[in-house]
Parts: sequence; structure tokens; C-alpha cells
Amino acid sequence: MKDIAIVTGASSGIGREFVKLLLGRKEVDEIWIIARNADRLQSMVAEFGDKLKPIPMDLSDIEQIKSLSSTLKIADANISFLINSAGFGKFGSYSDIGIDESVNMIDLNISGLVAMGLVCLPFMTRGARIINIASQASFQPLPYLNVYSATKAFVRNYSHALNVELKERRITVTAVCPGWMDTAFIDRGKTDATKTVSRFVNMTTPDVVAAKALRDAMRGKDISTYSLYVKFNRLVAKLLPQRIMMKIWLRQQNL
Ligand SMILES: NC(=O)c1ccc[n+]([C@@H]2O[C@H](COP(=O)([O-])OP(=O)(O)OC[C@H]3O[C@@H](n4cnc5c(N)ncnc54)[C@H](OP(=O)(O)O)[C@@H]3O)[C@@H](O)[C@H]2O)c1
Repeated sequence: MKDIAIVTGASSGIGREFVKLLLGRKEVDEIWIIARNADRLQSMVAEFGDKLKPIPMDLSDIEQIKSLSSTLKIADANISFLINSAGFGKFGSYSDIGIDESVNMIDLNISGLVAMGLVCLPFMTRGARIINIASQASFQPLPYLNVYSATKAFVRNYSHALNVELKERRITVTAVCPGWMDTAFIDRGKTDATKTVSRFVNMTTPDVVAAKALRDAMRGKDISTYSLYVKFNRLVAKLLPQRIMMKIWLRQQNL
């Protein structure tokens, strides 16, 4: 049996940082790296070696995710890590973001993440770790980032409940809630909207967030937050009514 790690969104940002961290773990025989752009995945194999197995796939297409099951069977895989990092958000009002793009955010950030977990769980045993990338945006509703923040609230709540269900199998689920990170996410999020998200307060780099998340997952924590700012935001969002939290957000964004 082969011990494997699967990282979605592996070609960029925090997903790529997780791949680098997993390369240092001796118990992992192969790291399956998933994203849409095959060339970028292939260039990672050239850079990091053939421990990486590229699997180009669009995770907003459930049929493609289901087909992974037979690949896992043929490989006789034991999955020790599943890191669901692929995701995107669009900045702007409800009327600036088209129907297709709004729904695609839900398809990838929610349906793709759930489907990946359900496909992988039959191949996981005691001690396996699922790491789901949620966001600081999961702590409250965010006007002008409305669909995205709602998808991340789903990811956080779903991950917590799944973690409880999987206790009897000794498998843990950690919801990672990063604040702004300096990655390609920011550029993909930009639109032509005039009223939009434009202030990326307390921006950090993805390497430190990934390292903390992996440490937290190994400790069996159900949530991972990096930086005092994010921890403080989480606490305040628990204490204040959502309408006040939204006012603070709008003021911060000059909206
Ligand atoms: N950056 C931030 O400020 C921030 C803050 C909080 C949370 N997050 C979350 O962190 C996660 C990773 O974001 P990041 O900042 O690392 O962004 P990123 O640098 O843009 O990376 C996104 C990764 O996902 C892949 N991807 C995108 N759409 C896909 C699809 N339909 N199917 C398969 N793969 C897809 C991309 O590759 P391809 O384009 O080749 O598919 C890329 O590898 C996301 O879930 C995001 O919501 C980000």
C-alpha cells in the first residue's frame, strides 16, 4: 500500500506551501497535486522531483472528482493527508459578479471540497488528517464579498461537524482560517466594480500560515488561525452582533 498526500490548489499560494512542507515528511510516498493548469503542475515536478504526481482537474466539476476514486483504487492508496486548498473569491457587489461566476464559487469552494472529502475518506485510516482551507471571512457576513464569505462559513461549520463524526475513526479535520495572504487569489478576485474590496489589512505570506496549519492539524486542533489580528477578529465576531461586525468591515473598506 502506498502512503499518499493529496493537495488541491497545489500549484499556487498556500497549496504550494503545503506541498513543500509535505515533501519533508518521510512517511509520505507520493504527493498528488491537483489544479486545472497541467503545465504549472508539471513544472512543479521538474522543480521538486517525481514524488509529486500531477493530476490536472477542474474541482468545480463533480464528475471529475468522482473519477478520482478509481485512480485511488488502482494505486492501492492510503491517504494520510487531504489538503483542500483550491478556492477563489470575487470582490464587488451582487450586481458586479455574474451568475456563472457566483455559482462557480459555490461549486468549487463548497461542493468541490465536500466531494473531495467523500471520495478520499474510504482510503483514509486512523491518524489521517484533513485540512480544509476556510478563511477569516468565515467569521461574519461580508458585504461586497457576500458569496465568498458565505462559502467559507460553510467550510468552517462543515469541517467542525465532520471532525466530530470522524473521531471514532481517529481522523481529524482542521479548518484553517487565514487572513489576507499575498497570493494570486487577490488578482483573481479583482473586478471592474467601483464599490469593491480594496484594503487588504494585515496581509501575510502563505508559508507561515501553512506551517502553523500543519502543526495545528498534527496536534488534532479543529481550527487553525495565524496572527493575533485574526484571533482577535474571531473573538470579536463571537461577541458582537453581525450588523455591527458588518459596519466595522464596511468602514475598514471605505464603503
Ligand atoms: N489569499 C488570501 O488572501 C486568502 C485568505 C483566506 C483564505 N484563502 C483561501 O486559501 C485557498 C487558497 O488560496 P490562495 O490564496 O493560495 O490562492 P491562489 O494562489 O490563487 O491558488 C489557488 C489554487 O487553486 C487552483 N484552482 C483554482 N480554481 C480551481 C478549480 N476550479 N479546480 C481546481 N483547482 C483550482 C489554482 O490553480 P489553477 O488556476 O491552475 O486551477 C491554484 O493552484 C482558497 O480556498 C482561498 O479561498 C485565501
